Formats: sequence, C-alpha cells, structure tokens
Amino acid sequence: MPCTVVICGFFGDTGKGKVNSYLSLKDRTAVSVRAGVGPNAGHTVIYESKKYKMRMLPSAFVYDKCRLLIGPGVVINPEVLLQEIQLIKSEDRVGVDPQCAIIESKHIEADKAGHLAEKIKTTGTGTGPCNAERALRLVKVARDIPELQKFLTDVPLEVNLAINEGKNVLIEETQGTYLSLYHGTYPYCTSKDVTASAACSDVGIGPTKVSDVIIVFKSYITRVGAGPLPNELSWEEAEKRGWSEIATVTGRRRRAAPFNYELARRSIMLNAATQAAVTKIDVLFPECKGVKSYEGLSQRAKGFIEKVEKEIKLPVTLIGTGPDAWEIVDRREELRKV
Ligand code: IMP
Ligand code: MG
Repeated sequence: MPCTVVICGFFGDTGKGKVNSYLSLKDRTAVSVRAGVGPNAGHTVIYESKKYKMRMLPSAFVYDKCRLLIGPGVVINPEVLLQEIQLIKSEDRVGVDPQCAIIESKHIEADKAGHLAEKIKTTGTGTGPCNAERALRLVKVARDIPELQKFLTDVPLEVNLAINEGKNVLIEETQGTYLSLYHGTYPYCTSKDVTASAACSDVGIGPTKVSDVIIVFKSYITRVGAGPLPNELSWEEAEKRGWSEIATVTGRRRRAAPFNYELARRSIMLNAATQAAVTKIDVLFPECKGVKSYEGLSQRAKGFIEKVEKEIKLPVTLIGTGPDAWEIVDRREELRKV
C-alpha cells in the first residue's frame, strides 16, 4: 500500500516541510494532502535555492506533477491560500474540499486577544476561534466562498481513488504530537488533535489505508508559545549550541531543549509510527552538512542515530543533513532489506 502519513513527534517545527518535499521528489508522489489545523503551521521548504514558507498547501508542491489537496478537516485562510497558489504558479494542481472551514477576520481578532494570546500564546492566526465556531456549526465553509469555487473537489474521494489505484499518496500533518488538543500538554496546545489518526480523519481515509507513518523528530527539541518543556535551556545556552531558532509564522523565539527519548517513545505509541526521521543532524554535527549516505556521516553522528534507534526501538530511515530538500540520508531501501 502506497499511503504515507508524516507527523511530528515533538512540539512542531521538526522539519516536516523538508521531509515532505524530499519524499514527493524522490517517490514521485501522485497526490499529497494537507491535514492538520490550518495556517498556524509554517513548513519551510528549500528547493532549487529558493526558500518557501508554506502555511496552507502541501510541501509536495516542489514535485511539479503532484496533485495538491487540502482535506476537509483543515481550516483555511483564503487570502493565505490564494497567495500560495499564485506563488507556485500552477492553479490546476490545487484542490480544496468544500467542507474546509473558513477563517474570517473576527477569528484572527479573537485569537490575538484574551487568554489565547496572553496565557496560551497561540500563533494568532485565527485557527482556534475558527474551530470553536465550527464546533458550534456556525462557521462558513469553502463552498460558501466565491474565490474558492474553482478549486473545490471531493478530497476524500480523490485520495481514496488514488490509494486504490496504487498511486503514491503523501499525507502531511501539521504541528506536533505534544500540541494535540487530546494528547498534548493541555491547555497549552492547539485546537485539534494532530496525531496520525487525526490526519487520516482530516483527509477522509480510514486507518487501514495507511502503509507507513513516518514520525519526524529534530536532533533537539524546540517549542514556541507557552507550556511545559522538559530540560529547557536558557536562550543563551541555546544560542551557544546553535539551537536558537525563530518561528516561521510568528517570528517568535523558539524555546529549546535536548532530544527527549521518553517523549519520543510516547509519541511513537500515540501515532503507531513505523519509521522515524531525525532532522538537523548537521546542527549537532556540522561535519555532516549535506551528506547523502549513511557511510558518509561522522562516527559521532552515527553513534547518535544508533543511540536514538536503540532508545525508541524504531529504525531511523531518514536523516536530515541540511535545509535543502535533497540534503538527506535515505535508508528506507537499505533498512527494508534487513
Ligand atoms: P494555535 O495553534 O495558534 O492555537 O497555538 C497553540 C499553541 O500551539 C501555541 O503554543 C503555538 O505556538 C503552538 N503552535 C501552533 N502551530 C504551531 C506550529 O506549526 N509549530 C509550532 N508551534 C505551533
Ligand atoms: Mg513550523
């Protein structure tokens, strides 16, 4: 079965954009579907020396034959979506489900005030208030918006047909397991579940259609916004280690901590992950920058990967060695043979 779900095992910002863009190019993905919350996500894609910060469309847009869909579970900001469609210059590849909920300015205003801004420290993109209105059955959906009419399509039908025909399908979840409304650090979390099961529901497939769940971890942990972060480092210490990052959507500083095996094991359980990706290994071991084979990694980098595999009891099939879509070690074939 050719359907892969890509999710994050920490607090988001682990490099799903990079992993998804690579997978689409390498596997010649026929259909990629965005699951997850909405434009609170910021997936960085670097391809052919250009940097993209995708908030609505799947990161698989870099593979120019890939159909790009947004599942009905996702909330859409039409302005952000239309800008991204313009940016990728290929309207006819894009399909939006008629039941995607629509973010309006009142949702953004509500997200930038009160406890959401002050206590939870949300992204302020309107996704939470939009999902709240959706639960009340009052929200507008994509079929109500004139500008979106030409993109409307039955996303669950398209995705299921593609899987049944044996095509490669890539489902892109957003945020991270510990930001899940159900499994995350409530109330410091996002407005929906964001595990692999939720991704299936978002795009309209059942769990038996999934062949692989790739869980993405970064070589260290970052978290933006409020809420617990075990073994959090000071900003100065994060800077010293080269772990000081700025958030894609909000421009805020990301809080940082070392890789956490306990959190990794639990998120593997919650998502029934079948393979792991570990990104940004070049930040821990700069000599690995741009390396594309496992043999090419330094001894200490291999030691780190082996330790992770032993602790999490899952093969690390993809290892990110730089921000470009092609800067990756892909051991999927090699580990399948074992
Ligand atoms: P919301 O999703 O905007 O409601 O924000 C809720 C919490 O999730 C805040 O702590 C945000 O910083 C965090 N969050 C939401 N989306 C992302 C993301 O894509 N990456 C990292 N953190 C996120
Ligand atoms: Mg991000």
